[in-house]
Amino acid sequence: MSKFWNKKTNELLPYVAGEQPKDGVKVIKLNTNENPYPPSPKCRGILDNIDIAELRLYPNTDSQIVRESVANKFGEYGIKAENVFVGNGSDEVLAICWQSFFEEKNNTDKKVLVPSISYSFYPVYSQLYDVETEKIPLKDDFTINADDYIGRENCGIAIANPNAPTSIALSLTDIEKIVKGNPDSVVLIDEAYAAFKNEYETAVTLVNKYPNLIVVKTLSKAYGLAGIRVGYAIGSKELIDGMMRVRDSFNSYPVDRIAQKLAAAAIDDDAYYQECRMKIINTRERAVKELKELGFTVCESSANFVFAKPSWIKAGELYAKLKERGILVRFFDKPVIGDYLRITIGTDEEMNGLISAIKEERA
Ligand SMILES: Cc1ncc(COP(=O)(O)O)c(C=O)c1O
Repeated sequence: MSKFWNKKTNELLPYVAGEQPKDGVKVIKLNTNENPYPPSPKCRGILDNIDIAELRLYPNTDSQIVRESVANKFGEYGIKAENVFVGNGSDEVLAICWQSFFEEKNNTDKKVLVPSISYSFYPVYSQLYDVETEKIPLKDDFTINADDYIGRENCGIAIANPNAPTSIALSLTDIEKIVKGNPDSVVLIDEAYAAFKNEYETAVTLVNKYPNLIVVKTLSKAYGLAGIRVGYAIGSKELIDGMMRVRDSFNSYPVDRIAQKLAAAAIDDDAYYQECRMKIINTRERAVKELKELGFTVCESSANFVFAKPSWIKAGELYAKLKERGILVRFFDKPVIGDYLRITIGTDEEMNGLISAIKEERA
Protein backbone atom coordinates (compact mmCIF):
# COMPACT_ATOMS: atom_id res chain seq x y z
CA MET A 1 0.00 0.00 0.00
CA SER A 2 1.20 3.46 -0.75
CA LYS A 3 -0.38 6.89 -0.65
CA PHE A 4 1.34 7.61 -3.98
CA TRP A 5 -0.38 4.72 -5.77
CA ASN A 6 -3.82 5.29 -7.22
CA LYS A 7 -6.84 3.39 -5.89
CA LYS A 8 -6.61 0.65 -8.50
CA THR A 9 -2.88 0.03 -7.93
CA ASN A 10 -3.54 -0.27 -4.21
CA GLU A 11 -6.33 -2.79 -4.84
CA LEU A 12 -4.60 -4.99 -7.45
CA LEU A 13 -3.93 -8.66 -6.71
CA PRO A 14 -1.16 -9.32 -9.27
CA TYR A 15 -0.35 -12.64 -10.91
CA VAL A 16 2.39 -14.55 -9.11
CA ALA A 17 4.86 -16.16 -11.53
CA GLY A 18 6.72 -19.37 -10.65
CA GLU A 19 9.98 -18.77 -8.79
CA GLN A 20 13.10 -18.19 -10.90
CA PRO A 21 16.32 -19.42 -9.30
CA LYS A 22 19.26 -17.00 -9.30
CA ASP A 23 21.55 -17.33 -12.34
CA GLY A 24 24.21 -19.96 -11.71
CA VAL A 25 22.23 -21.86 -9.03
CA LYS A 26 21.82 -25.44 -10.24
CA VAL A 27 18.31 -26.82 -9.90
CA ILE A 28 16.04 -29.18 -11.80
CA LYS A 29 13.55 -26.58 -12.91
CA LEU A 30 10.13 -28.11 -13.51
CA ASN A 31 7.97 -25.21 -12.32
CA THR A 32 7.27 -22.78 -15.18
CA ASN A 33 6.58 -25.03 -18.17
CA GLU A 34 9.66 -23.98 -20.09
CA ASN A 35 11.12 -26.20 -22.80
CA PRO A 36 14.11 -28.26 -21.60
CA TYR A 37 15.64 -28.05 -25.09
CA PRO A 38 17.27 -25.03 -26.72
CA PRO A 39 15.52 -23.23 -29.59
CA SER A 40 16.08 -24.09 -33.25
CA PRO A 41 19.78 -24.07 -34.26
CA LYS A 42 18.72 -21.50 -36.90
CA CYS A 43 18.46 -19.01 -34.01
CA ARG A 44 22.22 -19.37 -33.38
CA GLY A 45 22.91 -18.18 -36.93
CA ILE A 46 20.66 -15.14 -36.43
CA LEU A 47 22.46 -14.10 -33.23
CA ASP A 48 25.88 -14.56 -34.82
CA ASN A 49 24.91 -12.24 -37.65
CA ILE A 50 23.26 -9.37 -35.77
CA ASP A 51 24.59 -6.04 -37.02
CA ILE A 52 24.58 -3.90 -33.90
CA ALA A 53 24.26 -0.74 -35.98
CA GLU A 54 20.73 -1.95 -36.84
CA LEU A 55 19.79 -1.59 -33.20
CA ARG A 56 19.80 2.20 -33.59
CA LEU A 57 16.54 1.85 -35.39
CA TYR A 58 13.12 1.03 -34.00
CA PRO A 59 11.80 -2.38 -35.03
CA ASN A 60 8.96 -2.93 -37.49
CA THR A 61 5.78 -2.08 -35.54
CA ASP A 62 3.78 -5.07 -36.80
CA SER A 63 6.59 -7.66 -36.57
CA GLN A 64 5.88 -8.25 -40.25
CA ILE A 65 8.46 -11.03 -40.70
CA VAL A 66 6.85 -12.98 -37.84
CA ARG A 67 3.36 -12.42 -39.27
CA GLU A 68 4.56 -13.80 -42.58
CA SER A 69 6.13 -16.87 -40.98
CA VAL A 70 2.91 -17.54 -39.06
CA ALA A 71 0.81 -17.03 -42.23
CA ASN A 72 3.08 -19.49 -44.01
CA LYS A 73 2.79 -22.07 -41.20
CA PHE A 74 -1.03 -21.89 -41.21
CA GLY A 75 -1.44 -20.99 -44.91
CA GLU A 76 -3.35 -24.20 -45.63
CA TYR A 77 -6.17 -22.88 -43.41
CA GLY A 78 -6.35 -19.61 -45.35
CA ILE A 79 -4.38 -17.56 -42.77
CA LYS A 80 -2.71 -14.43 -44.16
CA ALA A 81 -0.33 -11.97 -42.49
CA GLU A 82 -3.29 -9.61 -41.90
CA ASN A 83 -4.84 -12.31 -39.66
CA VAL A 84 -1.86 -12.27 -37.27
CA PHE A 85 -1.05 -10.00 -34.32
CA VAL A 86 2.37 -10.31 -32.66
CA GLY A 87 3.15 -9.18 -29.12
CA ASN A 88 5.65 -9.28 -26.29
CA GLY A 89 4.83 -12.77 -25.05
CA SER A 90 1.32 -14.20 -25.20
CA ASP A 91 0.69 -12.57 -21.82
CA GLU A 92 0.79 -9.21 -23.56
CA VAL A 93 -1.32 -10.54 -26.45
CA LEU A 94 -3.92 -11.79 -23.93
CA ALA A 95 -3.91 -8.40 -22.17
CA ILE A 96 -4.55 -6.66 -25.50
CA CYS A 97 -7.41 -9.08 -26.25
CA TRP A 98 -8.96 -8.23 -22.90
CA GLN A 99 -8.74 -4.51 -23.66
CA SER A 100 -9.91 -4.83 -27.26
CA PHE A 101 -12.86 -7.22 -26.93
CA PHE A 102 -14.20 -7.63 -23.41
CA GLU A 103 -16.48 -4.83 -22.16
CA GLU A 104 -15.80 -2.72 -19.07
CA LYS A 105 -18.30 -3.15 -16.25
CA ASN A 106 -19.28 0.54 -16.49
CA ASN A 107 -20.70 -0.19 -19.95
CA THR A 108 -22.36 -3.58 -19.45
CA ASP A 109 -23.85 -6.04 -16.97
CA LYS A 110 -22.31 -8.90 -18.92
CA LYS A 111 -19.28 -10.80 -17.73
CA VAL A 112 -16.40 -12.57 -19.41
CA LEU A 113 -16.68 -16.34 -18.90
CA VAL A 114 -13.58 -18.30 -17.86
CA PRO A 115 -13.24 -21.81 -16.41
CA SER A 116 -13.16 -21.79 -12.59
CA ILE A 117 -9.74 -23.45 -12.70
CA SER A 118 -7.59 -22.01 -15.47
CA TYR A 119 -4.66 -19.71 -16.18
CA SER A 120 -4.65 -17.49 -13.10
CA PHE A 121 -3.71 -14.44 -15.17
CA TYR A 122 -7.25 -14.21 -16.65
CA PRO A 123 -8.94 -12.75 -13.53
CA VAL A 124 -5.93 -10.46 -13.09
CA TYR A 125 -6.49 -8.91 -16.56
CA SER A 126 -10.20 -8.56 -15.75
CA GLN A 127 -9.35 -6.67 -12.59
CA LEU A 128 -6.82 -4.44 -14.35
CA TYR A 129 -9.18 -3.60 -17.23
CA ASP A 130 -12.39 -3.35 -15.14
CA VAL A 131 -14.09 -6.35 -16.70
CA GLU A 132 -16.36 -8.57 -14.56
CA THR A 133 -15.45 -12.26 -14.63
CA GLU A 134 -17.76 -15.23 -14.19
CA LYS A 135 -15.96 -18.42 -13.27
CA ILE A 136 -17.67 -21.47 -14.77
CA PRO A 137 -17.10 -24.57 -12.62
CA LEU A 138 -15.23 -27.50 -14.14
CA LYS A 139 -16.68 -30.99 -13.86
CA ASP A 140 -15.42 -33.09 -10.92
CA ASP A 141 -12.81 -34.69 -13.18
CA PHE A 142 -11.48 -31.18 -14.06
CA THR A 143 -12.84 -31.31 -17.61
CA ILE A 144 -14.68 -28.38 -19.21
CA ASN A 145 -18.34 -28.89 -20.17
CA ALA A 146 -18.84 -27.01 -23.46
CA ASP A 147 -22.61 -26.79 -22.88
CA ASP A 148 -21.98 -24.57 -19.82
CA TYR A 149 -20.79 -21.86 -22.25
CA ILE A 150 -23.90 -21.98 -24.43
CA GLY A 151 -26.96 -19.80 -23.79
CA ARG A 152 -25.24 -17.87 -20.99
CA GLU A 153 -25.03 -14.09 -21.33
CA ASN A 154 -21.44 -12.87 -21.63
CA CYS A 155 -19.21 -10.14 -23.01
CA GLY A 156 -16.59 -12.69 -24.09
CA ILE A 157 -15.17 -16.11 -23.29
CA ALA A 158 -11.55 -17.12 -22.60
CA ILE A 159 -10.49 -20.75 -22.42
CA ALA A 160 -6.99 -22.23 -22.30
CA ASN A 161 -6.81 -25.37 -24.45
CA PRO A 162 -5.17 -27.51 -23.16
CA ASN A 163 -6.21 -26.00 -19.86
CA ALA A 164 -3.70 -24.95 -17.21
CA PRO A 165 -2.89 -26.14 -14.64
CA THR A 166 -5.03 -29.23 -15.30
CA SER A 167 -3.26 -30.13 -18.61
CA ILE A 168 -6.54 -31.50 -20.00
CA ALA A 169 -7.60 -30.69 -23.59
CA LEU A 170 -11.04 -29.91 -24.93
CA SER A 171 -11.89 -31.36 -28.36
CA LEU A 172 -12.04 -29.14 -31.42
CA THR A 173 -15.71 -30.16 -31.79
CA ASP A 174 -16.44 -28.69 -28.36
CA ILE A 175 -14.46 -25.54 -29.13
CA GLU A 176 -16.44 -25.08 -32.35
CA LYS A 177 -19.69 -25.56 -30.44
CA ILE A 178 -18.72 -22.74 -28.07
CA VAL A 179 -17.58 -20.39 -30.85
CA LYS A 180 -20.67 -21.09 -32.96
CA GLY A 181 -22.97 -20.78 -29.95
CA ASN A 182 -21.70 -17.26 -29.10
CA PRO A 183 -21.73 -15.38 -32.41
CA ASP A 184 -22.01 -11.95 -30.73
CA SER A 185 -18.98 -12.24 -28.46
CA VAL A 186 -15.32 -12.91 -28.98
CA VAL A 187 -14.18 -16.38 -27.95
CA LEU A 188 -10.49 -16.47 -27.06
CA ILE A 189 -8.76 -19.84 -27.19
CA ASP A 190 -5.35 -19.74 -25.51
CA GLU A 191 -3.26 -22.47 -27.17
CA ALA A 192 -0.02 -21.96 -25.21
CA TYR A 193 0.24 -25.77 -24.86
CA ALA A 194 -1.53 -27.02 -28.01
CA ALA A 195 1.72 -28.32 -29.51
CA PHE A 196 1.82 -31.10 -26.93
CA LYS A 197 -1.44 -32.88 -27.81
CA ASN A 198 -0.68 -36.38 -29.05
CA GLU A 199 -2.63 -35.70 -32.23
CA TYR A 200 -1.97 -32.06 -33.09
CA GLU A 201 -5.20 -30.05 -33.25
CA THR A 202 -5.63 -26.30 -33.40
CA ALA A 203 -8.59 -23.93 -33.44
CA VAL A 204 -6.69 -21.95 -36.12
CA THR A 205 -8.48 -24.29 -38.57
CA LEU A 206 -11.76 -22.55 -37.57
CA VAL A 207 -10.61 -18.94 -37.85
CA ASN A 208 -11.76 -18.44 -41.42
CA LYS A 209 -15.20 -19.79 -40.57
CA TYR A 210 -15.85 -17.71 -37.41
CA PRO A 211 -15.08 -13.95 -37.24
CA ASN A 212 -15.55 -14.04 -33.44
CA LEU A 213 -12.69 -16.50 -32.78
CA ILE A 214 -9.23 -15.40 -31.66
CA VAL A 215 -6.54 -18.03 -31.09
CA VAL A 216 -3.51 -17.05 -28.98
CA LYS A 217 -0.19 -18.87 -29.24
CA THR A 218 3.32 -18.51 -27.85
CA LEU A 219 6.97 -19.10 -28.71
CA SER A 220 7.71 -19.73 -25.01
CA LYS A 221 6.84 -23.42 -24.82
CA ALA A 222 7.26 -25.70 -27.87
CA TYR A 223 9.75 -23.32 -29.54
CA GLY A 224 11.96 -23.03 -26.44
CA LEU A 225 12.07 -19.22 -26.65
CA ALA A 226 10.55 -18.04 -23.35
CA GLY A 227 13.55 -15.74 -22.97
CA ILE A 228 12.67 -13.52 -25.95
CA ARG A 229 8.98 -12.98 -25.06
CA VAL A 230 7.08 -13.44 -28.29
CA GLY A 231 3.45 -14.53 -28.64
CA TYR A 232 0.83 -14.05 -31.32
CA ALA A 233 -2.87 -14.15 -32.04
CA ILE A 234 -4.68 -15.40 -35.14
CA GLY A 235 -8.16 -14.14 -35.99
CA SER A 236 -10.30 -12.36 -38.53
CA LYS A 237 -8.84 -9.11 -39.92
CA GLU A 238 -11.58 -7.26 -38.02
CA LEU A 239 -10.32 -8.60 -34.67
CA ILE A 240 -6.63 -8.09 -35.52
CA ASP A 241 -7.26 -4.48 -36.60
CA GLY A 242 -8.95 -3.83 -33.23
CA MET A 243 -5.91 -5.19 -31.40
CA MET A 244 -3.62 -2.94 -33.48
CA ARG A 245 -5.66 0.09 -32.36
CA VAL A 246 -5.14 -0.82 -28.71
CA ARG A 247 -1.46 -1.62 -29.22
CA ASP A 248 -0.89 1.73 -30.92
CA SER A 249 -2.50 3.42 -27.94
CA PHE A 250 -0.04 1.78 -25.57
CA ASN A 251 3.27 0.66 -27.19
CA SER A 252 3.75 0.70 -30.95
CA TYR A 253 6.96 -1.34 -30.87
CA PRO A 254 6.24 -4.27 -28.56
CA VAL A 255 8.67 -6.78 -30.12
CA ASP A 256 12.33 -5.86 -30.55
CA ARG A 257 14.38 -6.39 -33.72
CA ILE A 258 16.33 -9.39 -32.44
CA ALA A 259 13.25 -11.12 -31.06
CA GLN A 260 11.41 -10.69 -34.38
CA LYS A 261 14.23 -12.36 -36.31
CA LEU A 262 14.61 -15.20 -33.83
CA ALA A 263 10.85 -15.85 -33.73
CA ALA A 264 10.55 -15.94 -37.52
CA ALA A 265 13.54 -18.31 -37.84
CA ALA A 266 12.13 -20.65 -35.18
CA ILE A 267 8.65 -20.75 -36.77
CA ASP A 268 10.18 -21.45 -40.19
CA ASP A 269 12.13 -24.43 -38.80
CA ASP A 270 9.13 -26.74 -38.59
CA ALA A 271 11.23 -29.93 -38.58
CA TYR A 272 12.98 -28.90 -35.35
CA TYR A 273 9.67 -27.86 -33.76
CA GLN A 274 8.13 -31.26 -34.56
CA GLU A 275 11.18 -33.09 -33.20
CA CYS A 276 11.10 -31.12 -29.93
CA ARG A 277 7.40 -31.53 -29.30
CA MET A 278 7.57 -35.28 -29.98
CA LYS A 279 10.54 -35.69 -27.58
CA ILE A 280 8.56 -33.92 -24.86
CA ILE A 281 5.40 -35.94 -25.54
CA ASN A 282 7.39 -39.20 -25.30
CA THR A 283 9.07 -38.17 -22.05
CA ARG A 284 5.68 -37.15 -20.67
CA GLU A 285 4.11 -40.52 -21.43
CA ARG A 286 6.94 -42.28 -19.60
CA ALA A 287 6.78 -39.87 -16.64
CA VAL A 288 3.00 -40.31 -16.32
CA LYS A 289 3.42 -44.09 -16.18
CA GLU A 290 6.12 -43.84 -13.48
CA LEU A 291 4.18 -41.30 -11.42
CA LYS A 292 1.11 -43.56 -11.51
CA GLU A 293 3.24 -46.49 -10.36
CA LEU A 294 4.35 -44.31 -7.44
CA GLY A 295 0.74 -43.79 -6.38
CA PHE A 296 -0.06 -40.47 -8.04
CA THR A 297 -3.40 -39.66 -9.63
CA VAL A 298 -2.43 -37.98 -12.90
CA CYS A 299 -4.81 -36.00 -15.13
CA GLU A 300 -4.71 -36.98 -18.80
CA SER A 301 -2.13 -34.52 -20.09
CA SER A 302 -2.03 -32.89 -23.51
CA ALA A 303 0.55 -30.34 -22.33
CA ASN A 304 4.26 -30.12 -21.50
CA PHE A 305 3.39 -30.58 -17.84
CA VAL A 306 1.37 -32.98 -15.73
CA PHE A 307 -1.07 -32.28 -12.92
CA ALA A 308 -0.52 -34.98 -10.35
CA LYS A 309 -1.85 -35.75 -6.87
CA PRO A 310 0.29 -37.83 -4.52
CA SER A 311 -1.58 -40.44 -2.45
CA TRP A 312 0.77 -40.80 0.51
CA ILE A 313 1.77 -37.23 1.30
CA LYS A 314 0.25 -33.75 1.07
CA ALA A 315 1.17 -32.02 -2.20
CA GLY A 316 2.52 -28.97 -0.33
CA GLU A 317 4.79 -31.18 1.78
CA LEU A 318 6.16 -33.00 -1.25
CA TYR A 319 6.73 -29.66 -3.01
CA ALA A 320 8.81 -28.49 -0.02
CA LYS A 321 10.81 -31.73 0.17
CA LEU A 322 11.60 -31.63 -3.55
CA LYS A 323 12.64 -28.00 -3.23
CA GLU A 324 15.10 -28.93 -0.46
CA ARG A 325 16.62 -31.35 -2.96
CA GLY A 326 16.92 -28.65 -5.62
CA ILE A 327 13.91 -29.77 -7.67
CA LEU A 328 11.36 -27.04 -8.35
CA VAL A 329 7.78 -27.96 -9.21
CA ARG A 330 4.68 -25.75 -8.94
CA PHE A 331 2.32 -25.93 -5.97
CA PHE A 332 -0.80 -23.75 -5.79
CA ASP A 333 -1.81 -23.33 -2.15
CA LYS A 334 -5.52 -23.06 -2.97
CA PRO A 335 -8.65 -25.16 -2.42
CA VAL A 336 -9.02 -28.24 -4.71
CA ILE A 337 -5.88 -27.68 -6.81
CA GLY A 338 -3.82 -27.57 -3.60
CA ASP A 339 -3.98 -31.39 -3.55
CA TYR A 340 -1.95 -31.48 -6.78
CA LEU A 341 1.49 -30.56 -8.08
CA ARG A 342 2.02 -29.15 -11.56
CA ILE A 343 5.19 -30.73 -12.89
CA THR A 344 6.82 -29.50 -16.12
CA ILE A 345 8.21 -32.19 -18.42
CA GLY A 346 11.98 -31.80 -18.55
CA THR A 347 14.59 -33.92 -20.30
CA ASP A 348 14.60 -37.68 -19.67
CA GLU A 349 17.52 -37.14 -17.31
CA GLU A 350 15.69 -34.45 -15.32
CA MET A 351 12.59 -36.62 -15.04
CA ASN A 352 14.76 -39.53 -13.84
CA GLY A 353 16.10 -37.17 -11.16
CA LEU A 354 12.57 -36.28 -10.11
CA ILE A 355 11.37 -39.89 -10.02
CA SER A 356 14.41 -41.03 -7.97
CA ALA A 357 13.87 -38.18 -5.49
CA ILE A 358 10.19 -39.11 -5.10
CA LYS A 359 11.12 -42.78 -4.59
CA GLU A 360 13.57 -41.79 -1.85
CA GLU A 361 11.00 -39.57 -0.16
CA ARG A 362 8.49 -42.39 -0.28
CA ALA A 363 10.83 -45.03 1.11
C1 LIG B 1 -2.18 -20.88 -20.39
C2 LIG B 1 -1.07 -19.91 -20.60
N1 LIG B 1 -1.24 -18.90 -21.45
C3 LIG B 1 -0.27 -17.99 -21.66
C4 LIG B 1 0.93 -18.05 -21.00
C5 LIG B 1 1.95 -16.96 -21.22
O1 LIG B 1 3.00 -17.33 -22.00
P1 LIG B 1 4.03 -16.27 -22.60
O2 LIG B 1 3.66 -14.90 -22.07
O3 LIG B 1 5.36 -16.71 -22.16
O4 LIG B 1 3.83 -16.34 -24.08
C6 LIG B 1 1.17 -19.09 -20.10
C7 LIG B 1 2.47 -19.15 -19.39
O5 LIG B 1 2.80 -20.01 -18.67
C8 LIG B 1 0.14 -20.03 -19.89
O6 LIG B 1 0.30 -21.02 -19.00
